[in-house]
Amino acid sequence: MKIDFVLNGRDVSIDTVPLRSLVDVLREDQNLTGVKKGCGEGECGACSVLVNGKLINSCIFPAGAAHGTEIVTIEGFRETNRYRVIEDAFAEAGSVQCGFCTPGMVLAAEALLREEPRPDDAAIREAISGNLCRCTGYNMIVDGIKIAVKKGKGIW
Ligand code: FES
Ligand code: FES
Repeated sequence: MKIDFVLNGRDVSIDTVPLRSLVDVLREDQNLTGVKKGCGEGECGACSVLVNGKLINSCIFPAGAAHGTEIVTIEGFRETNRYRVIEDAFAEAGSVQCGFCTPGMVLAAEALLREEPRPDDAAIREAISGNLCRCTGYNMIVDGIKIAVKKGKGIW
């Protein structure tokens, strides 16, 4: 099946089986290895990407459903000022340890702040609830997002 979509701002056309996981298309065909593959079952959020601005687990998202959408991975998001705000905030809060969950956490933060630029703690925790982190105990990630909220005033 021919599948056309916009990936990190460029038009992409692929020919693949529609039920193939989007994460495999992104990592194997498009070489976007910032998209991590953890559980492969929709449980850990490591494979998170934005599809039409919404956070999805790309391991359980069929490639066929990507047709006509706009997809942003961490590689595309890195080109934005908003990324730089989150990157600095995460560095300040110590939100990154092994880094495996980080691309998904950063995109979860972006999806949240796009919807709600002034989230409270509960909203932040809810927004990252689908993303597992084995290292930080989550508080440092919540703190990182809170710093991004302050530093990114007016940017989201
Ligand atoms: S790899 Fe997709 S949710 Fe875990
Ligand atoms: S920093 Fe290691 S899994 Fe989150």
